[in-house]
Amino acid sequence: MEGKVKSITELNAWKDLKVHYEKIRGTCLRDLFADDPERGERMTAEAVGVHLDYSKNIITYETIALLLELAEESGLRSMIDAMFRGDKINITENRSVLHVALRAPRGSSIMVDGVDVVPMVHAVLDKMADFANRVRGGQWKGYSGKRIRNVINIGIGGSDLGPVMAYEALKYFSERTMTFRFVSNIDGTDFAEASQDLDPSETLFIVSSKTFTTLETMTNAQTARSWLIQAFDGDEKAVARHFVAVSTNSKEVADFGIDTANMFEFWDWVGGRYSMDSAIGLSTMISIGPKNFLELLDGFHQMDEHFRTTPFDRNLPILMGLLAIWRNNFFGADTVAVLPYDQYLKRLPAYLQQLTMESNGKCVTVDGERIDYQTSPIYWGEPGTNGQHSFYQLIHQGTRRIPCDFILFARSLNPLGRHHEMLLANVIAQAEALAFGKTLEEVKADGVPDWLAPHKVFEGNRPSSVILAERLTPGTLGKLVALYEHSVFTQGILWRIDSFDQWGVELGKALAQKIIPQLESDLEPELDHDSSTNNLIERCRKFKRLF
Ligand code: F6P
Repeated sequence: MEGKVKSITELNAWKDLKVHYEKIRGTCLRDLFADDPERGERMTAEAVGVHLDYSKNIITYETIALLLELAEESGLRSMIDAMFRGDKINITENRSVLHVALRAPRGSSIMVDGVDVVPMVHAVLDKMADFANRVRGGQWKGYSGKRIRNVINIGIGGSDLGPVMAYEALKYFSERTMTFRFVSNIDGTDFAEASQDLDPSETLFIVSSKTFTTLETMTNAQTARSWLIQAFDGDEKAVARHFVAVSTNSKEVADFGIDTANMFEFWDWVGGRYSMDSAIGLSTMISIGPKNFLELLDGFHQMDEHFRTTPFDRNLPILMGLLAIWRNNFFGADTVAVLPYDQYLKRLPAYLQQLTMESNGKCVTVDGERIDYQTSPIYWGEPGTNGQHSFYQLIHQGTRRIPCDFILFARSLNPLGRHHEMLLANVIAQAEALAFGKTLEEVKADGVPDWLAPHKVFEGNRPSSVILAERLTPGTLGKLVALYEHSVFTQGILWRIDSFDQWGVELGKALAQKIIPQLESDLEPELDHDSSTNNLIERCRKFKRLF
């Protein structure tokens, strides 16, 4: 990036949006829909089988035009090109940002430092496919000659959330004769529970870590190693048949004792939270098979191409990103609820939390200047309809405005009786209720007594977007994740931040390294923290001594 970038607040379109916001902030969706009977059709966009209905946001056509101007003025076009070209747009780590290369078709070409990375990507995919087929087919055997029936992915953050989310999302397509588990937490309970009913001689561990130095993953991997070796009476040779690694760091993998022939590589231009379609997806590929995994990649690629080539006004990730900015920076909405109406997507909100908040939870610009506007909102959510019986009360009648992303599929993978129509009816109804509410007059017209009526009023005017696709297939999942990835990119570019670093996780990690020996020490340690931290350490030591 050359020269200093202008703050978003200095752009003409931003200033125009400020004026525009004052004009329309009191507008209500009831009126907007009443004034324009075609709004529900016109404020939609569709591409690669994904339909986005953004009509229930508090916007006019002028809002969209101004937001599109803001995107142009922010240089979004040139930054999209820079990302796809392999420019080092992750400036604080001096790295390219090329998750799009992970799903580039064989034969295409993307250069990083003079090297075409696409053949490297496909060489790893071929190696993964070969391995996955051998595990699934029973040719890859455990040390005692038994077939592998259990796969445990050990990783955390991007080396866990993507694999878990994808496993759950694509369970319908998974190999049902095998068991898949995921261990991430440093809390020993995670490993203990994941392994307690498994036979080590039938268990394969995939140690997934970009750096291969992450405390949680390395500790869990060592515990897994001991668990395995103990089952083989201390025979360390068992490790080679029961451990494989996914990493960018072959030295650390070798130092851990895993043969680098059993390592699946990826590269520093893949961010952890953008890595589920790299070798980090090995557990996904073993679960759903190479063919389905390639379909997943193709879904990602279709959305990439849509993002790269489609004019902004019909570009789904860009429209989603701009609406997010509108709701966040103008209406001051602090959070976004992600509400998938599909049980298979139960881990999608957790996955999106890392994608969105680790990417865009920043308070300095790419130039290192303190930002004086809001960046990433807080993402949270649960699948519908469960959430309806829990926190939707607040979304409907609370004092905060919480924009919602509803995600739904027209057809179910498990069409049982009338379940799916009921599910769809519920999500469509929720979006309708949030937007249009129920006025005092309407409540009273139902015969509700005056004293009770205010409690039954729904103010409405609560914004939501609907993302609709035909069915949840591997390809659809790829499109959906890429949609969010590029929406996050769009927001980060407009906010002028580096969406691809994560320095905010470092301080806590470093402090924990200091506290670990203070908790473990047999001698009374000298504590030089603040009084609260010292006290907590002392209390933990005291409780430990009691048992
Ligand atoms: O702690 C944050 C983080 O660095 C994430 O960005 C990353 O996904 C996760 O830790 C795991 O890192 P690794 O794959 O190197 O073990």
